[in-house]
Amino acid sequence: MSAEEALGPTGLDRRPSAATVRPARAEDRAGLLAILQSDATFKDDERAVALELIDLGLESSVDYLLLVADLPELPVAGYLCFGPTPMTASTWDLYWIVVHGDARGRGVAGALVTAMEAELGRRGGKAVRVETSETEGYGAARKLYQRLGYPVAAVLTDFYRDGDALITYYKRLSS
Ligand SMILES: CC(C)(COP(=O)(O)OP(=O)(O)OC[C@H]1O[C@@H](n2cnc3c(N)ncnc32)[C@H](O)[C@@H]1OP(=O)(O)O)[C@@H](O)C(=O)NCCC(=O)NCCS
Repeated sequence: MSAEEALGPTGLDRRPSAATVRPARAEDRAGLLAILQSDATFKDDERAVALELIDLGLESSVDYLLLVADLPELPVAGYLCFGPTPMTASTWDLYWIVVHGDARGRGVAGALVTAMEAELGRRGGKAVRVETSETEGYGAARKLYQRLGYPVAAVLTDFYRDGDALITYYKRLSS
């Protein structure tokens, strides 16, 4: 993590995106799998966990909710999985956000996070926790959270393996 990242949010970039966001449907599964396969960052075990949560979300689990972003030329361009944090009154976890390799840099992730925050507002959510890794492959994710106003709340050094910290972001939502 760079010194700039450690300083926290630098401002909110909410440029409009052509992406539209909606709840996931069962027929999105192949497109969701294609998103995971389009990404070289994920290791096989990470991809398997992501798919497990996708399947729970598609089965209408109350613990794992799925939002899908469509672009005009690429339906199912990205997705976000979130859910209520166990044993908390109104904190939520953003578990996964992935945008298809061909659809990045067009505000798809920003649109997904904005839609999630709006949904949390409707559900009385008060805070969001996000965890990620400090490795290079997750640089775009760290940049995204910082840009969307997610402050770094904790860094657990060598958590995943030596030289790979767990970074926890924690954002209080305004009511
Ligand atoms: C992290 C990730 C989800 C970001 O997705 P994305 O859709 O490319 O993100 P955005 O388009 O919202 O933002 C990326 C860049 O596009 C810019 N952008 C945002 N809206 C834009 C728009 N409407 N038009 C053009 N550019 C835009 C952003 O400012 C940002 O620029 P920056 O990188 O210089 O800050 C994506 O890189 C990804 O799937 N990575 C692999 C999976 C991963 O690491 N997931 C997180 C951990 S689970």
